[in-house]
Amino acid sequence: MQQTIKFPPGPKDSPEANLYAMRRDPIGFFTRLARDYGDLSHFHVGEQNFYLVNHPDMIKEVLVGKDRNFTKWFAVQRLREVLGDGLFFSEGAYHARQRKLSQPAFHRTRIAAYADTMVKVSMRVRERWQDGKAVNVAAEMNWLAMVIVADTLFGADVEAEAVEIQEALNEVLRMLEKYTLPENDVADFNKARERLDVSVLRIIKERRAQGDSGRIDLLAMLLAARDEDGSQMSDTELRDEAMTIFLAGHETTANALTWTWYLISQHPEIERQLHETVDTVLQGRAPALEDIPRLKYVEMVFAEALRVYPPLWIVGRSAINDCEIGGVPLPKGSILLLSTYVTHHDPRFFTDPEKFDPQRWTPEAEASRPKYSYFPFSSGSRQCIGEPFAWMEGVIALAVIAQKWQLKLVPGHRVEMQPQLTLRSKYGMRMLPVAR
Ligand code: HEM
Repeated sequence: MQQTIKFPPGPKDSPEANLYAMRRDPIGFFTRLARDYGDLSHFHVGEQNFYLVNHPDMIKEVLVGKDRNFTKWFAVQRLREVLGDGLFFSEGAYHARQRKLSQPAFHRTRIAAYADTMVKVSMRVRERWQDGKAVNVAAEMNWLAMVIVADTLFGADVEAEAVEIQEALNEVLRMLEKYTLPENDVADFNKARERLDVSVLRIIKERRAQGDSGRIDLLAMLLAARDEDGSQMSDTELRDEAMTIFLAGHETTANALTWTWYLISQHPEIERQLHETVDTVLQGRAPALEDIPRLKYVEMVFAEALRVYPPLWIVGRSAINDCEIGGVPLPKGSILLLSTYVTHHDPRFFTDPEKFDPQRWTPEAEASRPKYSYFPFSSGSRQCIGEPFAWMEGVIALAVIAQKWQLKLVPGHRVEMQPQLTLRSKYGMRMLPVAR
């Protein structure tokens, strides 16, 4: 296939120039590709064929219809070296089995039981802030999301180590950004990995020691899981699953919340409406599960922030076999990139795409767009297992904090996207809590 194939349009620069452009400013590079070459564009990096897929129908084809023809791409495979063969990384029959085992912990009825913890932890964050004393909202949201995942899914208290874990994770993400690991960084990389291991293995050990704790969280399900032959998950398998959920479950949500606070701070009218919604629905109380559907505007704000700054800004796949996408033949080994960021900013689907506008999320507005023009949680067999968890956590954290504080960006604070594996804010987010 490779010899005869006619590639879709794309830049004719050298593979080195493409790699350079992709590394220097990936979002700019992909945005230009979509603008200049359309829904399916092609470029070379080294020997490899890369495609950017930017049409809802084709996105659906890759994620849903033809998902069996793809594995995750090599950038994700590299992270697998650190995080192990957990749900985000495993493939094929093993992935399907592990997904089935973990699924009950993410069922809507289970998630409902996590609401109290989400409220409690959000309260802890809001109560430790002081009027007019600047905080790094990015670090605060990381703490919040990490403590929530550890408590709800693993019954573990990580408060004391949260900052250290965060530093180790920062180190890992920073190094993965380089695509290849220079020799002298290996030691630091391993040190960071070991730091993450210490916490996750401690959590597993403590629970094993407790025996049947009566808890029915994710860790309990994984510990109790039996294969058809009656065997249990090995310590390595458990470590891998726990590590993955622990990291996937907080890094993304923390990013999403950080960007949401920033966007709210830049849009006084939306901020006003958010405060009004929270005050009217909650009347000064802490939110309860029944309040969540009534906090619809808060959810719309969160949905719009996930459009403008999608935490997983790129989803990548590698073709196992020759295949066709949008009727175009693609050779085996092709890398397909789907950028939530680029598609979410496509003016064909979102008029005036740079504008932050929660009204895009009324049921009518949503129904007027193609479904796969928005896919912050991906779709199909690899869809985010934590999606309902994330929606609830987002709405609760925003409501609880907005009840007490207005957050203002510290004047002069630089705000820039840092597209690593997730879409972080490069300089954190220094904000001033002002009592309401
Ligand atoms: C706003 C927050 C979140 C966003 C934007 C997000 C986004 C995503 C996306 C896009 C994927 C699929 C990637 C792909 O198709 O290659 C994914 C997978 C996954 N997410 Fe999330 N996620 C979020 C929150 C969470 C939470 C709260 C948890 C757990 C508590 C979680 C756990 C996972 C896991 C385990 C997978 C792998 C699922 C599989 O492949 O079977 N995520 N997430």
